[in-house]
Amino acid sequence: MYHILLGTATIALFTGCNQDAQPKNEIQNTVGISSKNWGEWDGKSVFLYTLTNKNGVVVTISNYGGTITSWVVPDKNGKPGSIVLGFDSLTGYLEHPPYFGALVGRYGNRIANGKFKIGDSVYHLATNNGKNHLHGGLKGFDKVVWSASPTTDSVPMLVLNYTSKDGEEGYPGNLIVSVKYTLTNDNELSIEYNAVTDKTTPVNLTNHSYFNLSSDPERTVLDQTLWIDADNYTPVDSTLIPTGKIASVKGTPFDFTVPVKIGKGIDSVKGGYDHNFVLNRKDSSLQRVAQLTDSFSGRKLELFTTEPGLQFYTGNFLDGKFKTADGKSIGKHAALCLETQHFPDSPNEPDFPSTFLMPGKTYHTITKYRFSVLK
Ligand code: GLA
Repeated sequence: MYHILLGTATIALFTGCNQDAQPKNEIQNTVGISSKNWGEWDGKSVFLYTLTNKNGVVVTISNYGGTITSWVVPDKNGKPGSIVLGFDSLTGYLEHPPYFGALVGRYGNRIANGKFKIGDSVYHLATNNGKNHLHGGLKGFDKVVWSASPTTDSVPMLVLNYTSKDGEEGYPGNLIVSVKYTLTNDNELSIEYNAVTDKTTPVNLTNHSYFNLSSDPERTVLDQTLWIDADNYTPVDSTLIPTGKIASVKGTPFDFTVPVKIGKGIDSVKGGYDHNFVLNRKDSSLQRVAQLTDSFSGRKLELFTTEPGLQFYTGNFLDGKFKTADGKSIGKHAALCLETQHFPDSPNEPDFPSTFLMPGKTYHTITKYRFSVLK
């Protein structure tokens, strides 16, 4: 085990809403990044990295799938709790939970019939979601061991690298991927994605964290409040493939342009939310696109991205099969995902923003999550 230190401190977990009071919880922690051995997979060593900032926000990330396994922040009373679903051992992840916290690629979300064309060549991808390709296929980036370089400048950073071979899961081209996680002292976790290829290939990288701001999966997310800066969304067919239309959210349960409780309209959405929102934007700069709040815990999460789309998924397929370390059941709507991305099935939809990366170009996107406590 080793530590990259930024300083050792007794950290008073910030309370935000309760500035004058004495800190209710104090934890002895190491500001910076540390690692421990977490087992082995595919003949490679798996590690768990702990990133801690000076406010006592602690994010743990494994190089297995680049997975965020926990993200501990205080609630309105200063009590720490993880706002994401995750397991405390590698074994949990080897049982294939549905992408808990994972880095998803080479193409996050669905490609219809696992098929697309570049010029005259037709490419066939692994199909792992009925007849469709989902989240990179049978062994996507969430199921591989990434090489990891923990570093620290003034804040803890973890750089993960993975080379996806030409033909892997049916994709053309060797793709060299690098993902950088940074935890700032402003309680922001940023994820920066970079990739280059030697043949034209579709790329759509995202993180699949399941959030529940109450930190209790037995309280569903239906009482939490969401704002999404999207006047439009992409309607889907029965297999969750976009029809190609861009539809207005106005007057529909997809209208989150003002903050709305997630449970308000969910019953009129067959199966629950699992849709791509077309973010309102004029350019591809880093923009604030969504906000999730929970009045019960007082926690607030803001989302910033350079991406054009956001998949809002309400954990509709969670069915209690997986349990937390303390035995709590992870059932339907126990958590939600906000996956920043290009639109699903873009390789087959010429009118959607292109996801094709060409040799000589660099894929580069940033998504940032800012945590705070409601005042
Ligand atoms: C994504 C998809 C969902 C589901 C989950 C994983 O969010 O859009 O339909 O496949 O991943 O279960």
